[in-house]
Amino acid sequence: MKRTTLSLILALSLMLTFYNCKDDDGPELPNGAIQLPSYAQRTGDPSAGYDYLVYGDYVGHGVPYQAYVTAMGTGQNRLDRTGDNANVAYDFTAVDAPNGVRVVAANCFSCHASVFRGELVVGMGASEANFTSDQSELIPTIDLGMNVLYGNPSDEWDAYEPFRRAVLVVGPQTVLQARGTNPADKIAAVLAAHRNPNDLSWSEEPLITIPDVVPPTDVPAWWHMKKKNTMFYNALGRKDFARFMMSSSLLTVKDTVKAREIDTHFADVLAFIQSLEPPVYPDALDSSKIAEGEKIFNDNCSQCHGTYGDVETYPNLLIERNVIQTDPYVLDVYNTHTQFADWYNSSWFSKPPYDAFIQPEDGYVAPPLDGVWATAPYLHNGSVPDLETLLDSSKRPTYWKRSFVSTDYNMEKAGWNYSVESGPSTSDVYDTTLLGYGNQGHYYGDQLTEEERAAVLEYLKSI
Ligand code: HEC
Ligand code: HEC
Repeated sequence: MKRTTLSLILALSLMLTFYNCKDDDGPELPNGAIQLPSYAQRTGDPSAGYDYLVYGDYVGHGVPYQAYVTAMGTGQNRLDRTGDNANVAYDFTAVDAPNGVRVVAANCFSCHASVFRGELVVGMGASEANFTSDQSELIPTIDLGMNVLYGNPSDEWDAYEPFRRAVLVVGPQTVLQARGTNPADKIAAVLAAHRNPNDLSWSEEPLITIPDVVPPTDVPAWWHMKKKNTMFYNALGRKDFARFMMSSSLLTVKDTVKAREIDTHFADVLAFIQSLEPPVYPDALDSSKIAEGEKIFNDNCSQCHGTYGDVETYPNLLIERNVIQTDPYVLDVYNTHTQFADWYNSSWFSKPPYDAFIQPEDGYVAPPLDGVWATAPYLHNGSVPDLETLLDSSKRPTYWKRSFVSTDYNMEKAGWNYSVESGPSTSDVYDTTLLGYGNQGHYYGDQLTEEERAAVLEYLKSI
């Protein structure tokens, strides 16, 4: 028998084995992929959820309303809100503190809404936000104003104090090294450390030890949640999503009595988030290039990212670190320091009927890509400025700088306009050599030709 014939027979028998496996075990998963299980979710009313997001008291302490308006003015609302909230920036909400004092507190939109190309887009990650300085440095100035206006003790000071003490603890521990990255994971861990897991009461001393490091993450778009079986980049958010989302209230919530009340609204918030649609690419696209790109995408990418258009599928896969090869730092943090996960899994948040739990994995979720043209920068740590460089790793800049002007967006390359810098400088420069900020991995576009990549890019703009 000729060598080639032998190889052919071998190849055929291998294929047969492959198809047999397929029959037995369901669809074949890509190498290094784990199928993420789905969990039943509470249902709710999207419009009530939106109202609660922009008027609700899930963060119930802050700076008195009058002081806020005097210091900040009444511009920048951008939402169609009424009453006092017409005078407050979109990422803040005027609410009554438990003692009746009207205060202004940060809301979810400080991270989950963004002014993009001049328009506020609800659900888009705030990739312009700046967490590169210690937020607690503002506290002495606010204290000064509070003392002049209201004195201490006063009802106003009581309404401010839970916010003040949280910022003093969180601020120094959540300083990032590149503007545009977000420290939400670390904020949650620091707040948990200062809360009794059973009744959520505040403890001035930390009750668990958490690592010093601040893993940088890019804020994911909310409109993907309707497809996802788990929350967060490493799929750690399991079971009740609403319970996870209300964790933001840990900033100032007094106890589990208030937490339970807040929790009842988050089924509606989830329904609102699941109702969001991605932004549509507004400029002209080349339809024959899209058709070509779709074919290449379906052959090379959809096994992990799903299909789009008439037949929507999404496989909900997590890809192990050695296969995806993107920066593993955030995985290391969760896998080597389990105190936060242990806190969560024994806390009020883990109690039925709407229990949630944390299960860190050693890899990243292959995310849905709806509206991906608008969500630069890319990868879980926001290390890649545009889709062109995401698809061709040889072009990814080591040091890059953007203007942080919302209109400075490159519609061709689907990402931020940037300049390549020769080395680190201010925090406006994204330094991919820092621990956790690496731009390596996800080499799937590299194996395509220049033309194929251009076609895939055109296709990605259309989904
Ligand atoms: C300080 C910034 C910040 C605030 C405030 C914030 N988030 Fe997030 N949120 C993030 C970041 C960053 C992630 C991604 C973290 C990760 O995956 O490791 C995230 C993840 C999520 C996800 C999961 C998305 C996904 O694809 O897995 C949801 C849903 C969400 N947040 C909802 C909310 C809601 C609702 C609020 C307000 C109650 C809120 N967040 C407040 C920064 C924030
Ligand atoms: C083996 C599975 C797998 C394949 C194949 C794959 N990807 Fe991915 N992709 C992932 C994972 C996992 C991530 C998240 C990595 C991270 O954030 O560290 C990702 C991230 C992305 C992102 C960034 C999303 C964002 O919002 O930051 C884009 C865009 C993308 N992939 C496009 C593609 C394209 C186009 C192809 C085909 C050429 C492809 N992928 C092939 C698993 C895969």
